[in-house]
Amino acid sequence: MNAVAAFENAFAARVGHRHGFAFWKGRVAMYAILKAMGVGDGDEVILPGYTCVMDVNPIMLLGAKPVFADIEPATYNVSPQELEKKITARTKVIVAQHTYGYPCRMDAVMDVAARHGVAVIEDCCLAMGSTYKGKLCGTFGKAAYWSFQWNKPFTTGIGGMACTSDETLAEAIRALCRESLRKPPLKPAMMLAAQRMVYRAFIYPRTTAMAAHLFRWLTRKGIVVGSSSTAEFVPQYSPEFFRGMGAGQARAGLRQLKKLDGNLAHRRHMRQVYDRLLGEAGFDVPQLPPEIDPVLVRYPLRVKNKEAAVAAATRAGVELGTWFECPLHPIETPMHLYGYQAGLCPVAEQACLEVVNLPVHPRANEKTARRTVKFLASTLVQFRQGDGKGPDKP
Ligand SMILES: Cc1ncc(COP(=O)(O)O)c(C=O)c1O
Repeated sequence: MNAVAAFENAFAARVGHRHGFAFWKGRVAMYAILKAMGVGDGDEVILPGYTCVMDVNPIMLLGAKPVFADIEPATYNVSPQELEKKITARTKVIVAQHTYGYPCRMDAVMDVAARHGVAVIEDCCLAMGSTYKGKLCGTFGKAAYWSFQWNKPFTTGIGGMACTSDETLAEAIRALCRESLRKPPLKPAMMLAAQRMVYRAFIYPRTTAMAAHLFRWLTRKGIVVGSSSTAEFVPQYSPEFFRGMGAGQARAGLRQLKKLDGNLAHRRHMRQVYDRLLGEAGFDVPQLPPEIDPVLVRYPLRVKNKEAAVAAATRAGVELGTWFECPLHPIETPMHLYGYQAGLCPVAEQACLEVVNLPVHPRANEKTARRTVKFLASTLVQFRQGDGKGPDKP
C-alpha cells in the first residue's frame, strides 16, 4: 500500500470513520465533500461568521452561497438559535466548525439540521481529539474534514483530509477523485519537505512572530509554499485547486499519528496550566459547559487592547496569535466579495476585536505559559496606565 493510502486508512480509523481521503489542503477536502454531496448553483451553505476565508472559497467555487451565522461568546462556535434563523428552503448544508478546539453544541446543531432536513458537515481543522458528551468531534455529521497546515493541532506542513462513514458519500468522493483529482506538483511538494525540516529546527515560541513575518514575505515572493495567497481572494475555480496529497505529506502524517496521544495530552495539560496561571493573574478564565472536553489548538483569551498587545508581544518575542482578525480571517479579505457586510454577526465581530490566543502546541511548555501570562499581566498594566480610560480588564 502506498503512503497516501496508508495515511488515509490510519487517520480515518483514528478519528472514528470508515473512509479517509487525503488532499493537498483542508479547503480541498471540504470542496470534495460538498461537491460529492451535490452542492451547486443556488444552494446555500451556513457557516459561522468567525472563520477562515479559505473555508468560504470552496462553497463559492461550487456556485453556492455562503450564509453566515453568528457565534456564542463563550465558545466562539455557531449559536444554534442564530443557525435556525438562517435556514431557508435553499439551505443544503450546515458547516459546524469547532473553533479553537471547543466543540460546537452538537445536540442542538443536529436537532436544527434534522428538523429542516439539512446535512451537517464538521470542520475539525482546529479540533483534533475534542469530544462533546464523550463523542469525538467529527463523528456527528455526514462527513468531517481536517487541515494539516502549520498552525493546526496535527500538521504535515500543509494538507487536508475528508472522512466519512457514509458509503454513498464515500463512493461519490472516490468517483470525483478518479475523474479529476490532480497529483501534487513535484516542486511545491519538495519545497514543502524542506520547509518541514526548517520548521523542526528553528520554530519555537520565541521565534514564532519573527518567523511568521518572514514566512509571509517569502510566500509573497513565491520562495516558499504558503498555505494561502491573496490571489485566492477572488473565488474562481482553477483545475490546479483540486490536488491530492503527496507521499511526503502522507509520511509526515503517519509520523504525527504515532505522536498523537502525547500531543493531545500535552494540549490538555497546557489548557489547565493557562487556566491556573491566568486565574492567579486576575484574568477571567473561560467557564465552559461540562459536556465539552476540548483539546485546544490555541488558548483563546479576550483582551481589551488587542492591537497594542500583539504589537508589544512581537517586540518582546512572545508568541501571541491573532485568529480571527475579522469574520473571514485574515484582515486583508475583501469581505464584500464573500457577501459579508459589517454588522451581520456582531458577537463574532466583537470577538475579532478582543481575542488573542496563546500557544499550547508541543513546542510550548509551562515555562512558555508562565512567560506569556507574565507578559500579558504586565502589558495590560502598562496599557492601563497609558490610556487614561480606566482599568483594562482582560
Ligand atoms: C477553521 C478552518 N477551516 C478551514 C481551513 C482551511 O484549511 P487549509 O488551509 O488546510 O485549506 C482553515 C485554515 O486555516 C481554518 O482555520
